[in-house]
Amino acid sequence: MKAVILVGGEGTRLRPLTCNLPKAIVPVLNRPFLEHLLRYLQQHGITDVVLAMGYQPAAIQRCMGDGARLGVRLTYSVEDSPLGTAGAVKLAAARLDDTFLVLNGDVLTQIDLTAMIKRHREAKPKLSIALTPVDNPTAFGVVETDDSGMVQRFVEKPPPEKVTTNMINAGIYIMEPDVLEMIPTATRFMFERDVFPPLLANGAPVLAYPSQAYWIDIGTPQKYLQAHDDLLRERGTAIITEGKTEIHPAARLTGTVLIGAGCQIAPGARITGPAVLGAGCKVSKDTVIEGSVLWDSVTIDDKSFIRRSIIGAGSRIAGSRLQGCVVGDNITIRKDLPPGSRAWPDGKIESGIPLK
Ligand code: GDD
Ligand code: MG
Repeated sequence: MKAVILVGGEGTRLRPLTCNLPKAIVPVLNRPFLEHLLRYLQQHGITDVVLAMGYQPAAIQRCMGDGARLGVRLTYSVEDSPLGTAGAVKLAAARLDDTFLVLNGDVLTQIDLTAMIKRHREAKPKLSIALTPVDNPTAFGVVETDDSGMVQRFVEKPPPEKVTTNMINAGIYIMEPDVLEMIPTATRFMFERDVFPPLLANGAPVLAYPSQAYWIDIGTPQKYLQAHDDLLRERGTAIITEGKTEIHPAARLTGTVLIGAGCQIAPGARITGPAVLGAGCKVSKDTVIEGSVLWDSVTIDDKSFIRRSIIGAGSRIAGSRLQGCVVGDNITIRKDLPPGSRAWPDGKIESGIPLK
C-alpha cells in the first residue's frame, strides 16, 4: 500500500524553531522527525511513500533523499501554494490507483497500522480514520462514532461546548481512490473541513479505528519536549553518546541524556535528563541544563541556567537564565529571559508565552 505524508504545513506553533526549518525535519532525538515516521511505516510494510510538500520543500528533499537509507522509496509532490491537506493529496492523485494511506507529518505514534489496514480490508469502508483519546479535544478534529464503530460526525477544532467525546482524529487515514473524486484540482481543500463532513452527510461508510496506543502530535513546543521525554524514558536511565564526545569527569549527568557526536562538556556542568544535546554542542563550567533539547552546535557559556527550553542550532547562551523558552537558530542570548520567552532569528524577544 502506498502512503502520502502531509508535510506542507508551516509549523507556525513551533516558531521560531521552524523559521528556517520545516516541521517535518525538526530533530527528534537528533534525527529528522520524518525518519521516525518512515521507520514506523517501514515496520508496517509500507515502503512506497509520497511526501506532499509546500513549505521549504528543498530542505526536506535534501535531508531525506530517496529514502533508501531507511528502507523506503520516497517520491516528492510539491505544491506551488498550499493546497490544504486534501488538495495536497489530490495533486499526487496520479500516483494513487489503489487503496492508500494518508498521514499527517507531525504525529509520533505506535498505533497498529497493520491491524488498521486489516480491519479496513475486511469492512471495506470508503475511508478509515484512526482515533486517539486526548485531554483537550478542542485543538483537534473530534470524531463521534456509533456502537458499530462507524463514524457519525467529524468536527474540526470545535468550541468546548461542542465537544462530545475525547476521541480525536489521529491524522492517519486509509482511503479508497474514489474519495479523490470529491476533491477539486488546484484548489485549497481540507479533509477535515471540506471532505469528511460532506462525505458523512452523504451517508458514505467511514470506519473508525480507535486505539489506546502511544500517540502525540509534536507540533507545539510543549508536545515536542513531551515527545522527547517519552522517547528517552523508553531508553531507561542512561547517558547515551552518539560518537566521540568529551565529558569531563567532574561534570554531573543524571537521568536519561542523549549526547550527539563531538560535544564538549566541562567540569561542574550539570545536565539533568530527560535532555538532548545535538552534535557539536559546547557546555561550559558551572552551567545547568534540565529537561531541555539543544539542537546541533549550541554553545552554553559559564553560569547559564536552562530549564525546560529548546535551543535552535548554532545558538549561544552567554551566561543567561532560561525557563520554558524557545530560542531560534543562530542567535546569541546575553541576558536572562523572562519565563516563556521566544527568541527570534532577527533578534526580537517575545515574552510571557507559556509552553503549550
Ligand atoms: N502538503 C501540505 N499542504 N500539507 C499540509 C498543508 C498543506 O497545505 N497544511 C497542513 N499540512 C500538513 C502539516 O504539515 C501537518 O503534517 C498535517 O498536514 C496536519 O496539519 P497541522 O497544521 O499540524 O494540523 P493540526 O495538528 O492543527 O490538526 C490536524 O491534525 C490533528 C492531529 O494531530 C487535523 O488533521 C486534526 O483533525 C487532527 O486531530
Ligand atoms: Mg499537527
